[in-house]
Amino acid sequence: MQKLIIKGNKELSGKISISGSKNATLPILAASILANQVKIKNIPMVQDIFTMIDLLNFIGLKTKIIKKKNTLEIKKPEKKVNTLAPYKLVKTMRAGVLVLGSLLTKYGKAKVSLPGGCAIGTRPVDLHLFALKKLGAKIKIKNGYIFAEAKKGLKGANISFPSISVGATENALLAAFRAAGKTVLKNCAIEPEVKDLIKFLKKLGAKISLKGRTISIQECKISNSKITHEVIFDRIEAGTYMIASALLARKELIINKVNPKNLKSEIDVLKKIGIQIIKKKTSIIIKKGKKFKKINIITKPYPGFPTDLQAQLMVLLTQVNGTSKIKEDIFENRFMHVPELKRMGAEIQIKDKTAIIKGPTKLNGAEVMATDLRASVSLVLAGLVAETRTIINRIYHLDRGYELLEKKLKSCKADIRRV
Ligand code: UD1
Repeated sequence: MQKLIIKGNKELSGKISISGSKNATLPILAASILANQVKIKNIPMVQDIFTMIDLLNFIGLKTKIIKKKNTLEIKKPEKKVNTLAPYKLVKTMRAGVLVLGSLLTKYGKAKVSLPGGCAIGTRPVDLHLFALKKLGAKIKIKNGYIFAEAKKGLKGANISFPSISVGATENALLAAFRAAGKTVLKNCAIEPEVKDLIKFLKKLGAKISLKGRTISIQECKISNSKITHEVIFDRIEAGTYMIASALLARKELIINKVNPKNLKSEIDVLKKIGIQIIKKKTSIIIKKGKKFKKINIITKPYPGFPTDLQAQLMVLLTQVNGTSKIKEDIFENRFMHVPELKRMGAEIQIKDKTAIIKGPTKLNGAEVMATDLRASVSLVLAGLVAETRTIINRIYHLDRGYELLEKKLKSCKADIRRV
């Protein structure tokens, strides 16, 4: 099994280019089931994307990956279509459940494996099913599968989500796209990744408007023409490297290929901690940190501070003066990095949903284990800060979502290698 070995405490300098967003690409790939022919650019070449491509191939779509250009071409199925998303593909990547909305829209039926639990919590799909039922789909759960049917097509409806879910908003968009009449979705997730899906669907012919957390969708015809779409940058990857820069920049580090407008909450939090940040049109410059101040934050849906950056921020908070608090308000079990960080010398206590982090503490290298995607990268950050050597096991989690991680860090003079 592969491991990462990091010799920490080295200053970083240079530039890092941010890849396309994994979480924007996944729903767009699911939406491609609706199209004749698409070309998607700026796709990150990471494991979750390959799993979604495997799923599209399984369904019957024709895909061609052009790795060097981070591009994927997709053509509609020529022969038989499988309206099935099997367990083996959905269990490794929950976003597989997003094909449910597209398959229902295009073929009037779908059989999709329930994703099951995952390391960060139970992660149900009740909100996805709630929306699909409101649109007229008949849903049954049997043998671990969701059986959905809408033989006569879906019907527009007014749907108000009881709580905000990125995936449920996306699945509802994919299902409502061609539903008869008008659909209004209230209390939606408005992450930039949801907006990128809307942009893609509009190219497919969708009539969608967004106001606050309300999305209105008017029945439309699917365009048959070839569609080209460039995926937005990965704001979580950008935030991760912004934190790495804040911790270790020699003088400054430049984060390229971003839109600072989508990073407002991250920039605000880092500034409050005392980090100097210069925003340019498509890049961000992070200056070497001096005195870091403590902070209390709560993870929230966009435009709030993202849960996907909570673990990385915690590493930074081990280096600030004073005691900080992070309340994890999205997922129930997302502090699995804490025992590993404690083994490296961090002083962190967990009380219910809140982590209390004492700083500054010296981090020491240790052999640690990655548990999920974002927890894994927080261990990489801790390893970069630590005084001695860190070995990170189970790095397949990292490969699910961080493109060229070692290469990008090495180009900034980090001492990191895979064995
Ligand atoms: C997406 C992101 C993930 C991010 C998360 C929250 C993708 C591929 N993944 O995941 O990286 O951490 O948003 O920003 O885009 N919930 C329910 N019932 C449901 C659906 C969700 O109770 O049917 C709950 C979840 O358990 C969680 C909360 O709602 O507590 C938010 O989850 P959701 O926004 O749906 O996350 P994902 O779309 O799975």
